[in-house]
Amino acid sequence: MKIAVIPGSFDPMTVGHIDIIRRSLKIFDKVIVAVMINDKKSYMFSLDERYEIARLSCEGLENVEVIADRGLLSELADRVGACAVVKGVRNEDDYRYEAEMAYYNRFKNPRVETLIMPCDNALDSVSSTELRRRIADGRDISDIISANAVTYIDGLIKEKGICKK
Ligand code: PNS
Repeated sequence: MKIAVIPGSFDPMTVGHIDIIRRSLKIFDKVIVAVMINDKKSYMFSLDERYEIARLSCEGLENVEVIADRGLLSELADRVGACAVVKGVRNEDDYRYEAEMAYYNRFKNPRVETLIMPCDNALDSVSSTELRRRIADGRDISDIISANAVTYIDGLIKEKGICKK
């Protein structure tokens, strides 16, 4: 069975991420979405919250498992039996960042290859950064998140008081 890991911060997961997950399922038998911590980032949502948003967003997608992990991607890939990591990119900046991550992860675990997948043209303006900006401004986010996650995210926004308006 060919298993891919799709790792990321997913702060929070967008429809762009979901498109990459769906397209990866054309190549792999199973996709493990790993919600992780990048030490260089500060987050709007906690690991548990990001995991729950990702889990709800992937509900109904067959052969997809969502996990949260605090460790290294190179070690996680071995633990879950993945032969590849898939990362989506929207532009050259994303590509450069992901290529650097891929070199690092391959150095740590040469068994696992990283595949960089260009995003769907229609989704190239969708990002977690844009999503967080809209949340902070109190703007509508329903077009860029999964319908399954709307109620949960709305609850978090109220509970955490992260909307400036
Ligand atoms: O795109 P992201 O949000 O930076 O993805 C997060 C992650 C952890 C997948 C990425 O930063 C990565 O591949 N890092 C490699 C080092 C690692 O495994 N770090 C995790 C603990 S700091």
